[in-house]
Amino acid sequence: MRDHATEFPTRTQDETHTVGCTVNGREYEAVVDPRMTLADFLREKLRLTGTHLGCEHGVCGACTVIVDGAATRSCLMLAVQADGAQVETVEGLAEDGELSPLQCAFKRNHALQCGFCTPGFLMSVTAALREESVTTEEQAREVLSGNICRCTGYTGLVKSVLEASAGKEGNA
Ligand code: FES
Ligand code: FES
Repeated sequence: MRDHATEFPTRTQDETHTVGCTVNGREYEAVVDPRMTLADFLREKLRLTGTHLGCEHGVCGACTVIVDGAATRSCLMLAVQADGAQVETVEGLAEDGELSPLQCAFKRNHALQCGFCTPGFLMSVTAALREESVTTEEQAREVLSGNICRCTGYTGLVKSVLEASAGKEGNA
């Protein structure tokens, strides 16, 4: 008879890890299972539920956050890999209750309907606009291409990227 206990050792408490990282400028530390994703870490350990989970395999972009300056699909990154990192989530975009210029552009242009995809789009575009300005519709569509919206269409999103990149501010 085969000894399954030998082939598949049971997990023990010793396999947990302590993760320390900065999220939206605030330091956090938590004990995690080694296979916990960064998305689950943010949502379940830190209660930052603005980061959404759609496909959970790197396709839809709903879970996008910024890690050390780069747009990152948090469903594909382990929490332990974020140890020591600077993480930004959608909760960190508004300052003192004021929406960021990009968030204002989304509002102004009706770039969201159900809003499920919105945090991911906001974080992808925020990271992209820090790298370079976007002046054409083609560039805007390229910036948006890693995220999927299933309900509102892309016209308002494209307009929002162009306006935010051009420095347009305000809600109206
Ligand atoms: S939930 Fe991460 S890419 Fe879809
Ligand atoms: S606004 Fe509903 S999925 Fe994008």
